Amino acid sequence: MTAPTTTPKIVARGVWKVYDGVTGPVEALKNFSLDVDDGEFLCIVGPSGCGKSTFLRILADLVPASSGSVDIRRSGNSGRPLANVVFQEHAVFPWKTVLENVAFGLEMRGVPKDERRNRARAWIDRVGLAKFASHYPHQLSGGMKQRVGIARALANDPEILLMDEPLGALDAQTRAILQEELLKLWEEERKTVVYITHSIDEAVLLGDRVVLMTAHPGTKKAEFPVPLARPRGIHTTATAEFGELSYAVWEALRDEVVAAMEAGS
Ligand SMILES: Nc1ncnc2c1ncn2[C@@H]1O[C@H](COP(=O)(O)OP(=O)(O)OP(=O)(O)O)[C@@H](O)[C@H]1O
Ligand SMILES: [Mg+2]
Repeated sequence: MTAPTTTPKIVARGVWKVYDGVTGPVEALKNFSLDVDDGEFLCIVGPSGCGKSTFLRILADLVPASSGSVDIRRSGNSGRPLANVVFQEHAVFPWKTVLENVAFGLEMRGVPKDERRNRARAWIDRVGLAKFASHYPHQLSGGMKQRVGIARALANDPEILLMDEPLGALDAQTRAILQEELLKLWEEERKTVVYITHSIDEAVLLGDRVVLMTAHPGTKKAEFPVPLARPRGIHTTATAEFGELSYAVWEALRDEVVAAMEAGS
């Protein structure tokens, strides 16, 4: 369950984003507001092209909002990075070993070599890649590469973790295994997470809350608290509560998916 808190960790207010498209301005996000509590696992689902990745990039400070505000509350002056992102693919440097990849953020922050190697090794162990520390990404499976991306982000100990369909490119079985691993890691760490997925089942399995966005331009359509007990795992998906909640989210999403398809996005 979400840790009780008075001030949210993330406060996004009236965020708009207009890109300069090839044929004119593209309104990607429209008046999107969202609060995320400290230690909350928040999932965002919405039709393709509705601005989910745009919102994540704004949170990560990779692109500026056209208007509105985004605040991420720091927990003291720890010098920790504000946000780290795990992307769907290409999340790892092909020319670096697993160890070097996981230690990368720490290296950028000037953490001394021995300490960063120790921290990286600890995270490599936790994601089950101990035997692969000196392998290069091309020697790993897709699921292993995503584990490297997740370990790299967590080793850096950011204030918030942003995940943009991190398991989207994986086959269903590998995905189920990684969902369970991610649940276990998160249930130990309780880091604030914003997690984007196309899979309603994944959102309901992982999240404390699921936020649903409208078709392009994206704004908030509905939100669903997920009261399922933790620790969760794939067994959770076999419960009636899980099925009912997933179906409720799908019912609310269906119109938006049709609208996005009709708009050709
Ligand atoms: N750099 C850019 N320049 C112009 N338009 C962009 C740019 N990036 C995204 N867009 C447009 O903004 C809209 C939102 O894109 P975004 O990638 O945020 O959607 P999304 O919800 O993540 O989609 P998907 O589910 O397919 O990943 C789309 O119409 C897209 O074409
Ligand atoms: Mg996207």
